[in-house]
Amino acid sequence: MPPRAPVQRRFPLRRTASASCRARRTPRPRGSARCRAGVRGTSTTRLQRPRASRRSSRRLQARARGTARAPHARTACRRAQCARPEPPSRRRSQPRSTRARLIGPKCAGAGRREAPIPCRGAPSSEGHQRGSRRGTRACPNRPKRPRRAKRPRRRTRTAPRPTRAAPAPGARATVPQAGRRAAARRARQRTRRLRPRRNPMRHGADASSATRAPAHRSPATARARLTEMAEKRYLLTPGPTPVPPEVLAVLAEPMIHHRARDFKGIYERSLARLREVYRTANDVLLFTASGTGAFEAAVANLTSPGDRVLVVSAGNFGERWAALTRAYGADVVHVRLEWGETPDPEDLRSALAEAGDVRVVYLVHSETSTGVVADVQALAAVAKDAGALVVVDAVSSLGAVPLETDAWGIDVVVSGSQKALMCPPGLAFDSVSDAALEQAARATSPRYVFDWERTRKAQAKLDAPFTPAVSLVKALDVALGLLLEEGLEAAFDRHARLGRACREGVKAMGLQLFSPDEDRSAVVTAIRAPDGVDSGDVVSSLRDRLGITIAGGQGDLKGKIFRIGHIGWFDVFDITTALAGVELVLADAGADIERGVAVTRALEAYESHATV
Ligand SMILES: Cc1ncc(COP(=O)(O)O)c(C=O)c1O
Repeated sequence: MPPRAPVQRRFPLRRTASASCRARRTPRPRGSARCRAGVRGTSTTRLQRPRASRRSSRRLQARARGTARAPHARTACRRAQCARPEPPSRRRSQPRSTRARLIGPKCAGAGRREAPIPCRGAPSSEGHQRGSRRGTRACPNRPKRPRRAKRPRRRTRTAPRPTRAAPAPGARATVPQAGRRAAARRARQRTRRLRPRRNPMRHGADASSATRAPAHRSPATARARLTEMAEKRYLLTPGPTPVPPEVLAVLAEPMIHHRARDFKGIYERSLARLREVYRTANDVLLFTASGTGAFEAAVANLTSPGDRVLVVSAGNFGERWAALTRAYGADVVHVRLEWGETPDPEDLRSALAEAGDVRVVYLVHSETSTGVVADVQALAAVAKDAGALVVVDAVSSLGAVPLETDAWGIDVVVSGSQKALMCPPGLAFDSVSDAALEQAARATSPRYVFDWERTRKAQAKLDAPFTPAVSLVKALDVALGLLLEEGLEAAFDRHARLGRACREGVKAMGLQLFSPDEDRSAVVTAIRAPDGVDSGDVVSSLRDRLGITIAGGQGDLKGKIFRIGHIGWFDVFDITTALAGVELVLADAGADIERGVAVTRALEAYESHATV
């Protein structure tokens, strides 16, 4: 606090209400109510009360005569708003205890001027000095009452605006009534604001009960109360996945130009980080598209109509390879397994031998629709032995489970931004080996946006052939930085433990797994719905009642399984949230499950060391 100016300059003697400030020798901080009254004259009505004037003029006269009381003998309450009457003159001779009784519990603070004046609502005297305009000494026992000085301002605010329509002749609406109506309207608005708001994303009986005021709720709806964190939502799907705040923050930054130098730096770093995550020395080509765009890029660049290709499918995304290659006119050998089966390298070997002259083998690393993670290392080795190029869909596995692009001899790895890479959807990637680029140079399928050579040439100059999703590239840069900071091995271990925690929790509840019970299955856990329960109802109930989004079954598995994702920015509490939610809705649906064990078991399993 800077030193105060001399008292006289700030509180001239002629100001009656400043007498108390003067008497204290140390002036009140600027802005305190009493001193404000003296300086600015905001409380002139109070200051000019005849009694106050008489009292202060008596004091001035006494001072002039040299008979004024010493300041410490003052017993009148100095609080500006404390209207305790002037004590009778005999009070000076009374013992202190009597004076205290006279002052009474209301004014226990009177006369203690060395203590800092707490500002009402401010935690410290510092807060008072800096910003409070109140500055009244808190009198702890004194009941609150409105300050007189402020009343006129309030009245002004509640008074009807001059623009209001005048009341009809003879109408009883007067100015005060209109003011009361406005005040009542404001009170109603305040009450409405305090009520829990209805979440527009939720529907159904429980969601509507969440909008009721607690007083109207019956005890029978105790469970519905769980839904009342109305806006809180949990994204526990295998993609898109939650995005860390650091990544979200960069998305909110002002736009930069994609040919500006600052973007080129980000672009270069993102591409380098991608290569690190891919574990490849090859180019990783970046497209503005969803993962399926990178699928299409691979097929368009590698396939000429009539080329023989082999697709191994055991779920939705294997089927997608088959559909795309067919769309480009390839001669497709489709090794179609039951959904949920794990592809066997020996089956592939015999299929390749039988088909003969297969140019490209298309595989899925993590089949997100079933939770199966294939042994692509073994499968790729078999395909290489047969002289075929290997293309792997790693949209949901890259960054979550081990994938060695170069060491395993994979020619093309396809991925996307919205899964374990912790970004929003919108970016797709193809890593391309030299052999794949050579094949692309020969392939005759039409392509333009997804043309590898065009993209590769541009990227070599740190350029993009078309305007890339600038903000998403910036987000990818940050997200990959986070992943590499954690370390790929550490991330793989975390994912394996998350998968294990989820499976153990599910089993403890008495549910059956659909996905394999193995540490490699670390991307998504697929669970069979109990008999008589439609898995779609579990998914919608979790979403609508509890704000938890998980995934349902796809294709033939629709209604039969539900899936809990655990890739990217996930920790064990995401798993326990999902398990607790599943337990709750299944119990409500009347399923025969064991309550209260899943979360504990999941936490224990997460602690144990994973072997991927
Ligand atoms: C394994 C797998 N492949 C491909 C895709 C398709 O990616 P997108 O939806 O981004 O086109 C997905 C997305 O769910 C996936 O999980």
